[in-house]
Amino acid sequence: MDTRTMVIGEETVRRYLTVEDAIDCVEKTWRWYGEGRVVMPNKITTDMSGLGVPSWFNSMPAYIGPTDTAGIKVVGGYEGNKALGLPFIKATVLITDSRTGLLRAVINGDYINDLRTGAQPAIMARMLAACTDVITIIGTGLQGYMSLLCMSRVLDIKEVRLSDISEEAMDRFIARFDSPAFCFVKCASNEEACRGSDVIITVTNANADLVEREWIKPGALLMTMGSYRETSFDCVRRADRIATDQVGQSLHRGNLKELAEMGEITAESFDIVVPDVLAGKSEGRRTPREYIYAQIIGTGMLDVALGGLLLQKLKDAGETPALFDMAK
Ligand SMILES: NC(=O)c1ccc[n+]([C@@H]2O[C@H](COP(=O)([O-])OP(=O)(O)OC[C@H]3O[C@@H](n4cnc5c(N)ncnc54)[C@H](O)[C@@H]3O)[C@@H](O)[C@H]2O)c1
Repeated sequence: MDTRTMVIGEETVRRYLTVEDAIDCVEKTWRWYGEGRVVMPNKITTDMSGLGVPSWFNSMPAYIGPTDTAGIKVVGGYEGNKALGLPFIKATVLITDSRTGLLRAVINGDYINDLRTGAQPAIMARMLAACTDVITIIGTGLQGYMSLLCMSRVLDIKEVRLSDISEEAMDRFIARFDSPAFCFVKCASNEEACRGSDVIITVTNANADLVEREWIKPGALLMTMGSYRETSFDCVRRADRIATDQVGQSLHRGNLKELAEMGEITAESFDIVVPDVLAGKSEGRRTPREYIYAQIIGTGMLDVALGGLLLQKLKDAGETPALFDMAK
């Protein structure tokens, strides 16, 4: 048997995986997870900041039953990267043979991470938003861009409001969209960006109250995606319903971490678990006027599933990437 490992760089990933692939793959993988056909332990974070390294990385293993794909995503946030011209988030996906443990592929995971991160709010908004005319994005970095890119493929959007501490980041963001079907509004404050908005996304590396409950209209959907706190506690406490992509991990990171530590949010607090809704086990939005708060924590099964899809597409195309023999 071939024991060699494929080594796959970003250029190949970009050539083979599309936004549409990501949206389809993320939705299917969430559904399979809801159906109990995916094995995924909670991610483990190695936070190095306590020892003076301003960075962390997560180990995120998963097995996708329907495609027989086993693997692990290793992804971290590195504060010093911007100054080096590197993205804040760096990811690698390892795919192993589910029966032998042989390492089948080492894949540059950056674009896979970007694709699946953006696909998540697109699918969630399609499922849970009462209306998507006005979308607010707080944090116009890479993941904010990927979120709007994916949302623009599946939602009817009229206006996109942007808010960021960096004017330059907002300008760069707008310039990446060529003749969009919606208009952009650069907002001077988060309040201006949020009031009257149908869908609000926070996707920053801040650790602060970026959104207040009073700014959120009835029927809105607020999705937080950053790794730290991004809203006032009241945005969660006074939500009509609370949603997530994965319960266990939502209690340890992101916007809900502190509320979970105070005992205010527990595994029982989630009214909507998106994979369960896709699997037909529970219901999503009930009324057009309920305000839904959603935490998108991001799970490794999505990257592993996209890694498996990439290998399948390479095989179908008859393309063999660089091979490395680990036995040597
Ligand atoms: N949930 C997920 O699945 C997932 C996946 C990947 C990354 N993330 C997280 O998403 C966040 C953004 O990652 P990125 O790669 O886009 O980073 P980035 O550095 O490219 O962008 C972050 C943006 O947030 C802005 N910002 C920082 N503080 C702000 C504030 N107080 N108010 C408004 N804007 C502010 C920055 O100016 C920047 O434009 C990080 O916390 C990252 O860990 C989440």
